[in-house]
Amino acid sequence: MANVKLAIVYYSSTGTNYKMAQWAEKAAQDAGAETKLVKAPELAPEEAIASNPLWKEHYEATKDVPEANSDDIEWADAIIFSAPTRFGTLPAQMKNFIDTQGGLWAAGKTINKVVSWMTSAQNPHGGQEATLLSLYTSMMHWGAVIATPGYSDDSIFAGGGNPYGASVSVDQDGNMVEDVEGAVSHQARRTVDVASRIVEGS
Ligand SMILES: Cc1cc2nc3c(=O)[nH]c(=O)nc-3n(C[C@H](O)[C@H](O)[C@H](O)COP(=O)(O)O)c2cc1C
Repeated sequence: MANVKLAIVYYSSTGTNYKMAQWAEKAAQDAGAETKLVKAPELAPEEAIASNPLWKEHYEATKDVPEANSDDIEWADAIIFSAPTRFGTLPAQMKNFIDTQGGLWAAGKTINKVVSWMTSAQNPHGGQEATLLSLYTSMMHWGAVIATPGYSDDSIFAGGGNPYGASVSVDQDGNMVEDVEGAVSHQARRTVDVASRIVEGS
């Protein structure tokens, strides 16, 4: 298998998508990929973060995680994005990161990146698919190669059966409800596998 460079770009307020990003990184490394785990920069004011103890705790705990930038996207053969559902779509922090890649896009440097997305929401029908679809729309503009999981592995059923990308619901205390680690790990391996074929064929 070709050597694949995988960037995992996440945004998380209370830790769910960070945990999913970490699972994805571990599985990708085990599959032989070189990885970078980076976060979309926070945009919320300090007062908003401080008003939610879980958010504040996570914000402080991940201060040392590097912020994502265009160099990470240019470096990567493949990118796994992970961000929570906000009113049925992606959070402003991740949208801001995507939108600030216009220079890279204009230079043709987003073309043929292999991408897949993961998300979370409080409710099992709280908008996960809508969030993932809106993200994939932007990836079509990037000329990226979208590698959704489909139903390519049994772990997807155990994680709730989302073929658009791994998704999980989160209870009031911020705990994940479904067992989604297997689906996340499979999605990471599949993204690396698809990227490997693109890299080999280039
Ligand atoms: C402003 C806002 C909007 C949200 N909108 C939704 C929503 O549309 N559907 C839903 O089920 N959960 C919604 N949630 C809950 C988040 O999706 C949930 O807290 C998140 O998935 C946790 O991920 P994280 O721990 O990585 O931040 C919303 C939360 C916030 C703060």
